[in-house]
Amino acid sequence: MAVFNVFKLSLLLSLLSNLPFGLWSAANNGVGISPPTCSRIECPGYDVIEAVNGYEIRRYNSTVWMSTSPIQDISLVEATRTGFLQLFDYIQGKNDYEKEIEMTAPVITEISPSDGPLCESSFVVSFYVPTVNQANPPPAEGLHVQRWKPVYAAVRQFRGFVADSDVGEEAAALQASLADTAWSAAIEKSHGADHASGYTVAQYNSPFEFENRVNEIWMLFQIEDELTV
Ligand SMILES: *[C@@H]1O[C@H](CO)[C@@H](O)[C@H](O)[C@H]1NC(C)=O
Repeated sequence: MAVFNVFKLSLLLSLLSNLPFGLWSAANNGVGISPPTCSRIECPGYDVIEAVNGYEIRRYNSTVWMSTSPIQDISLVEATRTGFLQLFDYIQGKNDYEKEIEMTAPVITEISPSDGPLCESSFVVSFYVPTVNQANPPPAEGLHVQRWKPVYAAVRQFRGFVADSDVGEEAAALQASLADTAWSAAIEKSHGADHASGYTVAQYNSPFEFENRVNEIWMLFQIEDELTV
């Protein structure tokens, strides 16, 4: 029911939009690349609700993530490295069951502004738990399980190694491309509630891969029934 309404909504948006469909290319419009990593390792599936110039709206079904505690840092790159090392140990068997877990993608870093001094932000780094482990992910000290309900994501893609200077720019570009859409209203409304005011950076490649690197900015949101009527 809700999904049907979303399709109606996106159809309406398409009709109202003046964007030149079919003219955009995957290389520079911020959407449409299928991360090559996902042909080798498990990635969470999603349905594309709308893909236009500058952003893509996805719907993820329920997903399970293994997450670090909040990491205070001024650098997303540093915080992600810190978190990733912890999660890498975890999948190598440093967990309560001494169980090895398959690598997945993406590794995501959720950013929230922090109240602290020194312009620090708060970062939570998470690993997508493979389907086979989702029912009973091994616990580990310093990590906790997040079980997400189905969620929508407004997504923008960018290439290369993530640098701290890119992240704010890419997030601003995503926000600008969403301006005056119903998605933007839904994101604002949602951010009052669940997913705080921040956004998420999703990275699909290991630090050792130099080519075909794909990264994404996600703004997560829920759709409330009133919006889709
Ligand atoms: C998500 O769940 C819906 C409803 O069960 C299903 O139709 C859809 O195929 C699922 N999508 C993915 C990507 O698994």
